[in-house]
Amino acid sequence: MGTMSKVWISGANGRLGSAMNALLNKREYEILNTDVEEVDITNAEDVMTYGTMNRPGIIINCAGYTDLEGCESNPEKAYQVNALGARNISIVARKIGAKLIHISTDDVFDGEGHVPYGEFDRPTPKSVYGKSKLAGEQFVRDFAEKYMIIRSSWVYGEGENFVQDLLDAAKIKDTLRIANDQYASPTSSIELAKLVMHLMEISEYGLYHGTCSGSCSRYEFAKEVLKLAGVKVAVEPVPTKHADFTNARPAYTVLDNFMLRIATNYKMADWKAALEIYMKK
Ligand SMILES: NC(=O)c1ccc[n+]([C@@H]2O[C@H](COP(=O)([O-])OP(=O)(O)OC[C@H]3O[C@@H](n4cnc5c(N)ncnc54)[C@H](OP(=O)(O)O)[C@@H]3O)[C@@H](O)[C@H]2O)c1
Repeated sequence: MGTMSKVWISGANGRLGSAMNALLNKREYEILNTDVEEVDITNAEDVMTYGTMNRPGIIINCAGYTDLEGCESNPEKAYQVNALGARNISIVARKIGAKLIHISTDDVFDGEGHVPYGEFDRPTPKSVYGKSKLAGEQFVRDFAEKYMIIRSSWVYGEGENFVQDLLDAAKIKDTLRIANDQYASPTSSIELAKLVMHLMEISEYGLYHGTCSGSCSRYEFAKEVLKLAGVKVAVEPVPTKHADFTNARPAYTVLDNFMLRIATNYKMADWKAALEIYMKK
């Protein structure tokens, strides 16, 4: 009998971690789930001990400090989790020969472009979140050997997210004011998890942009969510500074999944189709 591949999912309680658990076949993989309570990735020694004791063949780092405003007010924590955490996991991955799949973000771009960003475009983040995530990517490149970094955008899924916030707000407000000056590709956590699974099975290492195909403004995204949910509420397109969901975000961060196209031929689902599947659940 062959031994099952061991997969360590760090940040297992988050949106992507939950989606990974929903998708991964438990007969095929032995899954080791940890979140901050079990293994705080900012603790280098704990990360090393856990990794060397369990020796997973694959590590998926879904852990992150993803609160944008929190990152601005607490940059120390942002860099501890998003940068040093990624470093700690990379070091143990190298030591035990594990493949590391690390998740990053479109916020590494400043958002001032007008055409989709590819993996070979130079990132120049503006926010503390984006800067700390880029520092994390750099640590992965420096310390891990077999790694894949996936940059995604506007991820929604189980747990707190824009789709849920929007539906909650629609229950108590007459009019929703949504930013019409932010553009990206909404990506369902399930579609992102499917991509992670695809990359788990191949050895084309490196950096990937992994977002659902197509793009839209935050306003168009909101309209689509409300339409699919059958919720009738007035929606007003406004600039970010007047929007209800005021997360300061880069204006334009549409990503081109260029590497997926040239290296693996893997196609991500269309954002509207993926949203429809999510909303049905
Ligand atoms: N959501 C998006 O729009 C988006 C877009 C692009 C990329 N990403 C990236 O994708 C990854 C997964 O995102 P997500 O949406 O699943 O995020 P999430 O829902 O916020 O999940 C992150 C998980 O990591 C945990 N965590 C925080 N600090 C930790 C620590 N020191 N040690 C161990 N675990 C820790 C969090 O716990 P607590 O909740 O208790 O803090 C949470 O369970 C992140 O790296 C994020 O930067 C997200």
